Amino acid sequence: MLEVNDIHTYYGDAYVLQGLSLKLEQGQILGLLGRNGVGKTTLVNSIVGFNPPRRGSVVFKGEEISRQSSFETVRSGMGLVPQGRRVFPTLGVEENLLVAERSPERHGWTLERVYALFPRLHERRNQRAKTLSGGEQQMLAIGRALMTNPDCLIMDEPSEGLAPIIIQGLWEAIGKLKEQGLSILLVEQSAHLALKLVDYVHVMSKGQVVYSGTPQNLLANEQIKSSYLGI
Ligand SMILES: Nc1ncnc2c1ncn2[C@@H]1O[C@H](COP(=O)(O)OP(=O)(O)OP(=O)(O)O)[C@@H](O)[C@H]1O
Ligand SMILES: [Mg+2]
Repeated sequence: MLEVNDIHTYYGDAYVLQGLSLKLEQGQILGLLGRNGVGKTTLVNSIVGFNPPRRGSVVFKGEEISRQSSFETVRSGMGLVPQGRRVFPTLGVEENLLVAERSPERHGWTLERVYALFPRLHERRNQRAKTLSGGEQQMLAIGRALMTNPDCLIMDEPSEGLAPIIIQGLWEAIGKLKEQGLSILLVEQSAHLALKLVDYVHVMSKGQVVYSGTPQNLLANEQIKSSYLGI
């Protein structure tokens, strides 16, 4: 579904991604873990074209996308749930969803189906997004990405700043998306949370992948857990 091959990404002179590779198989959830500041969001920005890599390739459904605009990448089926939600604050809930609406014939995501996944959004459909709780804004950010009818969803720290009970509900929703066949790149700082969902995991440090394995193998690896995940 998505393959990142040896990418090198900078902010000006700052060399952040230093030869990073990953592979997301169709229908799987790939976890990308790592502490604060290791370059997780920079990777997301490189994949979606906000900050393209200077070297290396990003291949999505067999096509090289690292030189195309974010607009084209989203149009070709990449859904983004950005870190910090980034909903349109003064638009209503339903307006936030409708601005993203695209090609329902692709995977059948419509307003009704997003509301079925997140009934709370239906209850709040006429409220401005800025009046929602953090958990509701996260549901809205996910719903907005689903409205683009993506083949692949990238979620950047969806649990950030949310209470455990809210996260539990979100995690159930993400599990349903996987059951429905969506491929997901789940970027998380919390290994404990990510490992409940993912099929495979990469751990990042200083702009590189330092460990790859199954959740079971990572859980059994005390050295990686303590060195790179603070567990
Ligand atoms: N716009 C920017 N300009 C310059 N440097 C940046 C910019 N954004 C991030 N950086 C730097 O790049 C490095 C990686 O940051 P990034 O946001 O990718 O980390 P992260 O793993 O997503 O962290 P977090 O867990 O805080 O979200 C950090 O050293 C950060 O200071
Ligand atoms: Mg980040």
